[in-house]
Amino acid sequence: AKRIGILTSGGDCAGLNAVIRAAVHRAAHYGWEVVGIEDGTQGLLARPVRYVNLDLKGVDGAMMRQGGTILGTTNKGDPFAYPMADGTRKDRSQEIIGGLRELGVDSLIGIGGDGSMAILRKLARIGGIKLIGIPKTIDNDLGITEMSVGFDTAVAVATEALDRLQPTAASHARVMVLEVMGRDAGHIALSAGIAGGADVILLPELAWSVAGVADKIRRVQAGGRNFALVVVSEAVRTMEGVKAQQEFTDGQKRYGGIGNYIGHLIAEATGAETRVTVLGHVQRGCPPGHNDRVLASAFGVAAVDLLAEGKSDRLVAWSNRRVIDIPIEDAIATYAAVDIDGTLVKTARGLGIYVGDR
Ligand code: F6P
Repeated sequence: AKRIGILTSGGDCAGLNAVIRAAVHRAAHYGWEVVGIEDGTQGLLARPVRYVNLDLKGVDGAMMRQGGTILGTTNKGDPFAYPMADGTRKDRSQEIIGGLRELGVDSLIGIGGDGSMAILRKLARIGGIKLIGIPKTIDNDLGITEMSVGFDTAVAVATEALDRLQPTAASHARVMVLEVMGRDAGHIALSAGIAGGADVILLPELAWSVAGVADKIRRVQAGGRNFALVVVSEAVRTMEGVKAQQEFTDGQKRYGGIGNYIGHLIAEATGAETRVTVLGHVQRGCPPGHNDRVLASAFGVAAVDLLAEGKSDRLVAWSNRRVIDIPIEDAIATYAAVDIDGTLVKTARGLGIYVGDR
């Protein structure tokens, strides 16, 4: 029977197991075997290769409901310039291709972000392996898909955090700052901020100032509300008008990160009692919400169907209420920041949320 490999690569997120489960289901339909490669390309570097055989019995229990990836993942090292213990870099691509041969696998489903896709694509081309990519990242910054696996659940976690911060903020008349993830993009902050009723959302894509934030908080107070909720994207790097860039960078170091520093600046500017929550990896390691389960299932099924059609070097994506597939090459480096003229920024402004000066 045909054997296909599947691996997860890069940071984990909610929904990876749901992708794997769906792929195993669809492969069973074609009578194919599925081999789960452990720890991304790391499993293929090991000898013997580290893998698990995946069948319906194995994947159809609690797996879809679980966060993380049962296969393990890694973002340790580009195999074309692999960091060796002695500090040098080595091209280990042939070892990985050899690992796939050892498994008797001629097709691979790679679940990852654009960094992983670029590497897997190179490996697949050299090794003559059929590759289908599935986009995942809580950051939702892949331009080619409207939605990547993991984003919706991360937004749900950040929204729930605001739901939990609101009552304690109101009880103590405090300004609550919530720092959320996003790497370089503000998507999580923007969506969670809208959903969670934030007063201020600070994004890397829009210039903002402490004066603007303080003004918004004063207006909230003047309106008779004793608390405020502020969402800060970890991706915020600069601030206009108030501090020099160096001072801003130093401030983040001094106060322990962007959220803590902005909390300090708000307290200083408004006199309000301020508390900071840095949400961190709880945005990643939790059971996938229903949207991510549906998206992951659709992607997993579609990936196997593409292989069945003899297609390769394609990435599945979500567009206009359906799964499409595009050349992986076109998908790589289609970075999508928050659209500053887009609907969600307009929505935030329409709700009176401060999202920057202009
Ligand atoms: O890209 C996903 C992400 O969770 C980012 O939002 C965050 O900046 C980063 O990964 C955290 O990486 P690590 O898990 O290596 O700390």
